[in-house]
Amino acid sequence: MRHLLATEGMDAATATAVLDTADQLKATLLGREVRKLPTLRGRTVVTVFYEASTRTRVSFEIAGKWMSADVVNVSASGSSVGKGESLRDTALTLAAAGADCVIVRHPASGAAHRLAGWLTEAGTSVVNAGDGMHEHPTQALLDAATLRERLGALDGRRVAIVGDVLHSRVARSNVHLLTALGAEVVLVAPPTLLPSGVDRWPVTVSHSLDAVLPTVDAVMMLRVQAERMHGGYFPSAREYSIAYGLSEARLGLLPEHAVVLHPGPMLRGMEIASAVADSPRAAITEQVANGVHVRMAVLYHLLAHEEEMA
Ligand code: CP
Repeated sequence: MRHLLATEGMDAATATAVLDTADQLKATLLGREVRKLPTLRGRTVVTVFYEASTRTRVSFEIAGKWMSADVVNVSASGSSVGKGESLRDTALTLAAAGADCVIVRHPASGAAHRLAGWLTEAGTSVVNAGDGMHEHPTQALLDAATLRERLGALDGRRVAIVGDVLHSRVARSNVHLLTALGAEVVLVAPPTLLPSGVDRWPVTVSHSLDAVLPTVDAVMMLRVQAERMHGGYFPSAREYSIAYGLSEARLGLLPEHAVVLHPGPMLRGMEIASAVADSPRAAITEQVANGVHVRMAVLYHLLAHEEEMA
């Protein structure tokens, strides 16, 4: 039994296998004549979220149900976590109760890896649904699925990731996955919202969104994560929006074919203008829809296909 913990170290063949499976599942379910597949009948999937989520949690639940798995949702506030139970004891309890797969979101970077360490022996798979500022691998996979749909193969494509890179697990997972798939990544952010050590990442860095936009095939806008900002100097919302917001005027700087992505939740009027988010250039609702098929594919590869993943 294997886990999906990160895109760091995931090779192109593994990522492509998941993305191809997601495409096949999407084609099978298109039009919803086939509403449910029997693939994971008898398997139990548990989601445990210690941080808020709409997209990831709902799409994993739908993905499991569309594969006929039994899906159980545990929220930190309504469980024994609220009584002080440790992550380890919670994990072992879920495995003992029969979970074949635990999908975890946690504010601590590395939490999913710890969980995998405790659950491997029990034969329970772990999927990282976002750990602190570290990784969010299924978000990167659904972003890649959406880009493949809009642009074709990603090899040689140039993607800008814009905004609060410092606090973004989405940015980290996308840098690893996009570069593994042959794309070039440029990070665009104010110096205060870039992590130390970014010079060792396989990316280029710019502080000028206007200079970068005409050169890219896709632009991924990141949410400004105020909840993770504890001290330091950060631009005001107005300063940020003027320098790094994707306004309608800036949309005109992108090449005609270029795609706009945002992982959500969006701060409309800050990192992205409403008119841009709702324009046909944006693939934001496609990202959400593809999230279900990608997460079905991940569950398939972990629980049905028994294939090694990163
Ligand atoms: N993109 C993303 O992870 O959204 P949620 O926080 O709503 O799951």
